[in-house]
Amino acid sequence: MPGGAGERLVELDRSHGPLLAALPVRRLGQPHSRLVAEGLAGIAPHLGAGFEGVGLFDGVDLRAVAIWRPNPPLYGEHPPTWELSYLATRSSFPRRGYARRAKIDVLRRAQRAGIVQVISHVHRDNGWMLLLNDSIGGERRWVEGEEFVLVVCQVEHCLAVAAAAGHC
Ligand SMILES: CC(C)(COP(=O)(O)OP(=O)(O)OC[C@H]1O[C@@H](n2cnc3c(N)ncnc32)[C@H](O)[C@@H]1OP(=O)(O)O)[C@@H](O)C(=O)NCCC(=O)NCCS
Repeated sequence: MPGGAGERLVELDRSHGPLLAALPVRRLGQPHSRLVAEGLAGIAPHLGAGFEGVGLFDGVDLRAVAIWRPNPPLYGEHPPTWELSYLATRSSFPRRGYARRAKIDVLRRAQRAGIVQVISHVHRDNGWMLLLNDSIGGERRWVEGEEFVLVVCQVEHCLAVAAAAGHC
């Protein structure tokens, strides 16, 4: 989905710390969104040092962010994998496609880096986030009783689904 004229995706670095800490991402009735806000508030020192990030800006206004780990601590055999740690949109700009655009940008970066899958752990009560991943062909892997759902996005597949749906 094309963005507005002033919208652009920008790689984040430590200098974006104050913007990340001030980004309002908590949602009423969604306790899990507090964890996201707290995570973003403390992430800046780790950008370029274990975590990478991209921000969707409109002019100087930060509207959405995606933060990922290029080398997540995983066990066992797995294809080249990134872990999307945080995906969040400023609470006053919901449902404009910002989060999906940020995620698709991460998938494109992953594709360029030769990454096969991007995984994330989504709180089981976070229906919106689960639906977002469904909309680009992400696969939910439920573990009975677990608080978080493992979502696996096969990079090529999800980019193809997103393109076919007109999201990119
Ligand atoms: C979840 C979150 C990232 C979605 O951000 P967003 O920019 O509003 O989402 P988008 O506009 O890109 O929506 C993409 C899809 O997600 C789903 N979705 C998002 N918000 C929804 C809502 N309020 N109701 C139903 N579906 C919703 C839909 O499938 C939507 O596609 P559609 O609009 O074409 O139907 C946002 O609500 C948020 O920041 N929440 C707090 C932080 C969080 O929980 N992050 C995830 C864990 S790290």
